[in-house]
Amino acid sequence: MVKAAELIKASLGAGRELFRSVPLLEVPPGQEPVPVIVPIRSLGPKHRDRILAHLLALDAGDRYLRFGYAASDEQIESYVEHLDFDRDEIFGIYNRHLTLIAVAHLAFAPDPAYAACAEFGVSVLGIARGRGYGTRLFERAMMHARNENVDLLFIHALSENTAMLKIARAAGAAVERNGPESDAYIKLPPADFDSRMTEIVEEHFAQTDYRLKVQAKQFTDFLATMQEIRRGVQAARRRSGS
Ligand SMILES: CC(C)(COP(=O)(O)OP(=O)(O)OC[C@H]1O[C@@H](n2cnc3c(N)ncnc32)[C@H](O)[C@@H]1OP(=O)(O)O)[C@@H](O)C(=O)NCCC(=O)NCCS
Repeated sequence: MVKAAELIKASLGAGRELFRSVPLLEVPPGQEPVPVIVPIRSLGPKHRDRILAHLLALDAGDRYLRFGYAASDEQIESYVEHLDFDRDEIFGIYNRHLTLIAVAHLAFAPDPAYAACAEFGVSVLGIARGRGYGTRLFERAMMHARNENVDLLFIHALSENTAMLKIARAAGAAVERNGPESDAYIKLPPADFDSRMTEIVEEHFAQTDYRLKVQAKQFTDFLATMQEIRRGVQAARRRSGS
């Protein structure tokens, strides 16, 4: 039974992480970065093609950092094909062109004996790096993992992967270096009412944002088609001299 005071406190706190904005990079010289809110949404099987396009867009170096080996296109295709959206959680950040600019995979252990453990992997497209997306996805994954009763989150990264290890360390992970590879572990606090409410608000916000982006894209595509038709009609008129 949830106490009224807890409900009010959680309702007020819900979404506060969401409104912790990140700086927008495209700022004219001399101007301050404009803060933007990052809608991170949970992805399902119908996003598989876009997840694939996102991963295929990573260059060889990034594929090596993401997967721990220089994944070929075929290996990436197989990875995406085998994503288990029922067991695992895939998070994504879409830009307004509906390109997935960042994707995170929170993988839960298939063996129930390790149900309290999960592994995190992430990639951000080169054009969108350094804006805090990797950090925000990690925070979102930690919150979801807590809410799924995970108490140990694991990140396997190459020791040269400064950015990923920085994200993990900043969140409080212990990092064990083993030559060229490093393992980071973070002990998560148990879920509470606040973490559950915050996740619901974040997901709702991101779903709404995605729907608006889909509508906006459909409308601009429609306008582009109309322009095309208009130009065709004008060209035909000019040709016929009318
Ligand atoms: C790792 C990765 C996800 C980071 O994404 P990102 O959105 O650029 O990360 P953030 O903007 O949140 O940056 C996190 C921190 O790392 C730092 N950082 C980012 N890129 C860095 C780099 N190349 N070298 C050193 N530090 C870097 C940032 O300054 C930030 O530190 P701060 O919080 O002190 O400012 C991204 O670089 C990536 O996709 N790499 C290829 C795939 C990969 O390595 N995946 C991780 C393995 S699972």
